[in-house]
Amino acid sequence: MSRKQVLVYRQLPDDQLARISHEHDVVIANPRIPAQRDAFLAALPQAQGMIGSSYLIDESILAKTERLEVISSISVGVDKFSPEALARRGITLCHTPGVLTETVADLLFAMVLTTSRRVAELARYVQDGRWDRSVGEELYGWDVHGKTLGILGYGRIGQALAQRAAMGFNMPVLYHTRTPVASGLPEGRAKAATLHEVLANSDFVVMVLPLTEQTRGMIGPQEFALMKSGAILINGARGPIVQEAALLHALDHGSLRAAGLDVFDTEPLPIDSPLRTHPRVLALPHIGSATHETREAMCEMATTNLLLALEGKTPLAVYRS
Ligand code: 8YV
Repeated sequence: MSRKQVLVYRQLPDDQLARISHEHDVVIANPRIPAQRDAFLAALPQAQGMIGSSYLIDESILAKTERLEVISSISVGVDKFSPEALARRGITLCHTPGVLTETVADLLFAMVLTTSRRVAELARYVQDGRWDRSVGEELYGWDVHGKTLGILGYGRIGQALAQRAAMGFNMPVLYHTRTPVASGLPEGRAKAATLHEVLANSDFVVMVLPLTEQTRGMIGPQEFALMKSGAILINGARGPIVQEAALLHALDHGSLRAAGLDVFDTEPLPIDSPLRTHPRVLALPHIGSATHETREAMCEMATTNLLLALEGKTPLAVYRS
């Protein structure tokens, strides 16, 4: 098989880079690093394969490609691409579902526990040297076990989260999803529900759905007004699904108790964002899948996807809209 041109636009572990350069000619250029942006743009016309993540590959980028066969994204989410525009150009889009499911579900449940028991806030309280007597009611948290967990989006990650909540913490689970799916749990432990029912009956509302034109901004003032008094919102999906202004209003003027956010409209979160310093917001730097084991597995899967596609074979996971 002839060697092809591959553009690597995000750092890859050496062992995966070696797998690619063993078969193909590689250009490494990360457009998010200003000094490498020109090299990235210059490599586009020759690129037959691209591998990377966290950078918007829109029409202005695609228009500079001439020989592109495949893009292998080191992510399960594909909102940095237009699958329709890629399909029109006959470019295969690969992604990495499955390998990060349990890792992301762990982080989501950690956010449920951390927000409800005020773990991060009270760790700061001790770090700041303010612990000078036994904690009183003003520092109490709220129980998690036995409370109702609402999940918006019930794919692999949603189901793994439900498993943790129902089987590990005896929590009734309500889930809402576009396409009806079985709960995957013993009878009665998780129930399918309408969006309205999930919002109105859940102590925790957790977002694990893809960012699409349908889900963009889907949680706004009306949805927050529907939520139970004292509910906690967890967003581990994509920032633009939740209207940030409405979220802040619900925290400051509504009945939202707290929010755990791993994703934002703008990432990294701007330093002047009120969400960064809000006392009842747990803000994390998009670490859902950020463990050594899982990021290595994601890079390995993305590399395999790329090599199979460039060989004209079927990759492990092709995104089909
Ligand atoms: C990625 C993620 O690390 O897979 C996804 O969709 O959000 C994360 O696992 C992130 O997209 C990389 O930017």
